[in-house]
Amino acid sequence: MAAISQKETMMTMNRVVRLIERPVGMVTRSCFSFEDEAVAEPGEGEFRVKIECISLDPAMRGWMAEGKSYVEPVALGGVMRAFAAGVVDASNNSQFQVGEYVTGLFGVQQFAISDGNGVTKANPEVAPLEAWLGGLGMPGWTAYFGLLDVGEAKAGDTVVVSAASGAVGSVVGQIAKLKGCRAVGIAGGPEKCAYLVDELGFDAAVDYRADDFFATLKAATPDGVDVYFENVGGDIGDAVLSRMNTFGRVAVCGLIAYYNATSAPDGMKNVRSILVNRLKMQGFIVFDFAKGIPAAMAELAEWYREGKIKFRQDVREGGVDAYPEVLNLLYTSGNFGKLVLKV
Ligand SMILES: NC(=O)c1ccc[n+]([C@@H]2O[C@H](COP(=O)([O-])OP(=O)(O)OC[C@H]3O[C@@H](n4cnc5c(N)ncnc54)[C@H](OP(=O)(O)O)[C@@H]3O)[C@@H](O)[C@H]2O)c1
Repeated sequence: MAAISQKETMMTMNRVVRLIERPVGMVTRSCFSFEDEAVAEPGEGEFRVKIECISLDPAMRGWMAEGKSYVEPVALGGVMRAFAAGVVDASNNSQFQVGEYVTGLFGVQQFAISDGNGVTKANPEVAPLEAWLGGLGMPGWTAYFGLLDVGEAKAGDTVVVSAASGAVGSVVGQIAKLKGCRAVGIAGGPEKCAYLVDELGFDAAVDYRADDFFATLKAATPDGVDVYFENVGGDIGDAVLSRMNTFGRVAVCGLIAYYNATSAPDGMKNVRSILVNRLKMQGFIVFDFAKGIPAAMAELAEWYREGKIKFRQDVREGGVDAYPEVLNLLYTSGNFGKLVLKV
């Protein structure tokens, strides 16, 4: 009998990360199990994806928590939910051929079985696979709909975005520029701020960690703020609220400053700005715009092909076993660009 090579032996196993305990505060390794399981075969109408990279998204912390949200929490014992990208390596579905690249909610594991629901095709010849989890993927769609549909940004507006050097924020500012707006980014530290202006073409960047944060924000928004794309919450959100113009829009995309909170965070202080400026403040989830995703993706890909928009990926090694530590980088400002874990 021919000896089974080590590679073939490894190929028969699937390393799977399951949620076994709900975190309190930051996630810890003890919240997960890490086990090798037999690789499943696709059933009728299904295909199997060999996952190459996993998307780390701030929302994951919320997906682990119980309580009312826009999506069911990950069940205890369930595979940790995650967007991921990979290649089809077995298929009983004529719409997904072996060798095609795809993204979808495949989970924190090495192989996934899918029926094609919610799966998008990726073309690594257009952009690196990681970018299909970033600027061309869910964060890019979020930036697009949040700025244009929820924020109703139009030429001449001043747009401010927080977590501006990240996956969503960096795309928000660049689309704002393409639409003729003044783009101002808020980010932590001089390196990220320089990147926004020098590399991405933002008009100004404001370091929220600097002592003169508010004075710099004021100087960067001489005509006030028409659209605030909120990714953070807390003191940053409050500071921008005090700069809003009459009939301004606040698109509440994320509140990352609160995701690991163990007690109710302080309330918004500048709530009076909503009244006196007649602001429209709207939360949104990207999948509210599901129907528009193919068109948004096509436009983002076109801008990318034409060199009008750039995506930065922060790719980490370590495989699925490194999931908890790499995820926590998002909440400690440890990432610079779209955070992705190589499998
Ligand atoms: N509504 C939706 O459908 C939707 C979809 C995708 C993402 N989102 C939201 O969009 C936001 C950005 O997500 P992303 O994937 O693009 O992540 P990201 O910006 O690439 O990474 C997170 C960044 O948030 C900043 N941050 C973390 N904790 C902070 C704190 N306490 N105060 C200030 N800044 C903090 C850090 O940047 P600094 O170095 O600048 O501190 C960190 O690098 C998140 O709130 C996320 O939940 C919403």
